[in-house]
Amino acid sequence: MTATDADHAADHVVATRTFYDAVAEDYAALFRDSLAAMPLDRALMAGFAELVGEGGRVADLGCGPGRVTAHLASLGLSVFGLDLSESMLAIARRENPGLRFEQGSMRSLDLPDGGLAGVVSWYSTIHTPQDELPAVYAEFRRVLAPGGHLLLAFQCGDEPRRHDRPWGHPVALDFRRMRPERIAALLEAAGFTLVQRTVRAADTDQGESTPQAVLLARAATG
Ligand SMILES: C[S@@+](CC[C@H](N)C(=O)[O-])C[C@H]1O[C@@H](n2cnc3c(N)ncnc32)[C@H](O)[C@@H]1O
Repeated sequence: MTATDADHAADHVVATRTFYDAVAEDYAALFRDSLAAMPLDRALMAGFAELVGEGGRVADLGCGPGRVTAHLASLGLSVFGLDLSESMLAIARRENPGLRFEQGSMRSLDLPDGGLAGVVSWYSTIHTPQDELPAVYAEFRRVLAPGGHLLLAFQCGDEPRRHDRPWGHPVALDFRRMRPERIAALLEAAGFTLVQRTVRAADTDQGESTPQAVLLARAATG
């Protein structure tokens, strides 16, 4: 599976891939064990897993080093990861040899219509320009079976935060914050029914500086 020509033409996709290729090892080291210290995030993932059902086929889109993919697998899901960044995927495969990880773009997935019971996008739409979000959510909806579940995490806010030269690497990228009510409206326009919207305070012990949102939505059955 490869990113499409359209993706290659999109500057932000190239910038995102370049950024994560550069920081992959540092990012993986920083976040490797962080879920263990985040019981509320794990609770939301557990609820998602229960709704999807044991063995349900799930895609972790924008999986990075695979830490969330591995956690979802430990909850009994039949999950695979997908990411733009080959460096991230190399870490994911190295650290989770029993799981499948593929290169691709969530803007144009090489997956059939309606084949998944669940989609997870854990902080992976945070580099997507606002005007492209409807197309991304439509793609999530397309690959989900009617009644399938989407779990979407992102930072709350209005202003993007630019990360320049992270860990000294010569790259930079905007981290976009979003308003949960606006994202909920976009999901409903894309054919989802909102199930739950949670916003928790920033966990400064984890380096967070803004409230964090997780939306759980169900693909419409009609
Ligand atoms: C902030 S990291 C989150 C990684 C992982 N979900 C986690 O929580 O550790 C964002 C990831 O999304 C990926 N990503 C961003 N846009 C993407 C796209 N259009 N298609 C696939 N992956 C994408 C990046 O390459 C990066 O690995």
